[in-house]
Amino acid sequence: MTLTKATLSTVKADALLIGVAQGANGLVVAPGAGDLDKAFKKRLAAALTTLGATGKANETTKLATLGATTSPQLMAVGLGAAPAKGERFEHEVLRRATGAAVRALAGTKRVATSLALAGGGDADAVRAVVEGAALGGYAFGRYRSEAPKTVGAVVVLVDNPRDKAVKAAAEQAQVVAESVLLARDLVNTAPADLAPADLAQAAVDACKPLGCDVEVLDEKALQRDGYGGILGVGQGSVRPPRLARISYSAGRGKPTVHLVGKGITFDSGGLALKTAQAMEWMKSDMGGAAAVIGTMRAVASLKPDVNVVGWVPTAENMPSGTAIRPSDVLTMHGGKTVEVLNPDAEGRLVMADAIVAAGKAGADYIIDVATLTGAQLVALGSHVYAVMSNDDDLRTSLVAAARDAGEQSWPMPLPPELRKSLDSDVADISNIGERNGGMLTAGLFLQEFVPDGVKWAHLDIAGPAFNNGEPYGYTPKGGTGVAIRSLVRWLSTLG
Ligand code: BES
Ligand code: MN
Ligand code: ZN
Repeated sequence: MTLTKATLSTVKADALLIGVAQGANGLVVAPGAGDLDKAFKKRLAAALTTLGATGKANETTKLATLGATTSPQLMAVGLGAAPAKGERFEHEVLRRATGAAVRALAGTKRVATSLALAGGGDADAVRAVVEGAALGGYAFGRYRSEAPKTVGAVVVLVDNPRDKAVKAAAEQAQVVAESVLLARDLVNTAPADLAPADLAQAAVDACKPLGCDVEVLDEKALQRDGYGGILGVGQGSVRPPRLARISYSAGRGKPTVHLVGKGITFDSGGLALKTAQAMEWMKSDMGGAAAVIGTMRAVASLKPDVNVVGWVPTAENMPSGTAIRPSDVLTMHGGKTVEVLNPDAEGRLVMADAIVAAGKAGADYIIDVATLTGAQLVALGSHVYAVMSNDDDLRTSLVAAARDAGEQSWPMPLPPELRKSLDSDVADISNIGERNGGMLTAGLFLQEFVPDGVKWAHLDIAGPAFNNGEPYGYTPKGGTGVAIRSLVRWLSTLG
């Protein structure tokens, strides 16, 4: 990814990428492609219309340039309705269009694009285009005999490539996008190749070289320190659980944020065995952990003025002769007891242990991220994650940060009336409550483990963490890396 001041008609590239939009009288070419239109004798919009282009968002149309420019081909990507005079295309529109186009251009060596200029050419437009290109250009090749085709390089046209803010935005965008791609790789990796120890090692590999302190507790250390939730969930698997802690320090006197990510490397349901179909998704049950590892990696590079500690409680939820039984009682880290009525409600057990540990470590904020409930999908679907919190301002600021980063989230309540459905006949609390509002009872369960006075938020990303359907915008099939962009944005607003 490079920035350049060159124009489309002269830049050296294998393909040019421009924006088009729906104007009042048909297709219009978005700003930044004026010289190219001249090279086409001002007939670019007409030529693209002939080929069927309408300007609809993310629609791609290819055209041979037949010597009119240095580059042999041209792709136009739709940006939807042209903005009113004086207004710009939204950054998320640019991010998605860039992603869709770069995916459609897979196999092209060098792509030059005017899309940042279409968005006004400022730092945030550049950020959106660089992120869109990097995210849309992703392909997971680990298990393929032939490496998947991707775009080799993207040249982003800007007015002033030396502008400090523009350069910084491009660099930050690249760091954030690489962190999202790491998370996608982790989610897409076959669960056979990603045992809890491997996931913990991934945290070490990603963050230690960047200066973070990373500590991994193995099963013996977990036993020693009484992490009953993580151990209980992990006891059915031959591959023992882990708890990784990643620390980034900005210095004394700064607020400290603890991030906790659910790292179930495979969720079979345990003795509450899921159906084969429900299991198809369950390699993504470490999507929260992947988001925390990705966020910590980005934080270690971007160095915000806030202390951040990432926790990755990780286990494999398997049925076996050693698996936890319905009605077994676990003693969690910190001493609370939990009756496990349903071994498929395992995420909250590993999360609770780590939340207690984060609280003990002196958190100002705890943000947990988890593919926690099927009920999240029922409530909000697979594009919008849920944000629950014990603090109205925190919830509002997280939802706003997600929006600004181009991710969709929605505030959800924690109705105290549902809490009593978690009462256990034998222990302090049960791991399942009322079925209706299952996402909220899961949130209420976690809240029980948050120390008084700590601002806490819970992100349920069950649906958005994994794309079962066709690729769209910059989102591929499989792991999405959701929540990293939101969290990085939110952390940067803190300091
Ligand atoms: N990992 C699942 C939640 C999930 C479901 C994530 C679908 C992504 C897609 C979680 O561990 C689970 O099984 N939750 C149960 C809880 C229930 C037993 C209270 C659920 O939601 O059905
Ligand atoms: Mn489960
Ligand atoms: Zn799970």
